[in-house]
Amino acid sequence: MERDIQQVLVSREETIALVKKLGQEISVDYEGKDLMLVCILKGAVVFLSDLVREIKIPLSLDFMALSSYGASTESSGAVQILKDLGASVENKHLLVVEDIVDTGLTLKYLLKNLKARKPASIKVCSFLDKPARRKVNIKIDYCGKEIPDKFAVGYGLDYNEQYRHLPYVAVLKPEVYQKL
Ligand code: IMP
Ligand code: MG
Repeated sequence: MERDIQQVLVSREETIALVKKLGQEISVDYEGKDLMLVCILKGAVVFLSDLVREIKIPLSLDFMALSSYGASTESSGAVQILKDLGASVENKHLLVVEDIVDTGLTLKYLLKNLKARKPASIKVCSFLDKPARRKVNIKIDYCGKEIPDKFAVGYGLDYNEQYRHLPYVAVLKPEVYQKL
């Protein structure tokens, strides 16, 4: 796996520090509130599992799966709910946990969908932000790090379902894409 890596964008050490900081901010901001994290599968699951352990106030969790890229590295813009939340989110303070915001199309659709379910509030926490490719205006309330316009893998992010378990964020060598 290591030999497929061209460049590290967020090292393991930086990842740990960024997640800790986000957890501290969330713990302060949501003190006394009925916080529920909505993790977007599959990409955000690695980030979520580290993040929850840095949040020191009570919270609940749920998961949603949305259609995404498949084997391509470009967003189609068409979003579909593959797995929905297990219960009502009415009056809960929702924090959507994402791996990365790229075009923003997925999140735009999701936020509209969740707002219709009458939560008390709704905010976004994304580990990565790729602002260069944004197509719609999205406010990221808690952001780990901005990255350049490069296709990233690791820390939950995949290329063709591979590399999600890399403990850092990296860019693959061009020949890796040519192989698949
Ligand atoms: P968006 O709708 O274009 O903002 O993209 C949303 C989803 O696309 C993210 O949650 C990721 O799952 C995936 N994605 C976007 N950029 C990358 C990337 O650089 N590497 C891997 N997956 C990505
Ligand atoms: Mg995702």
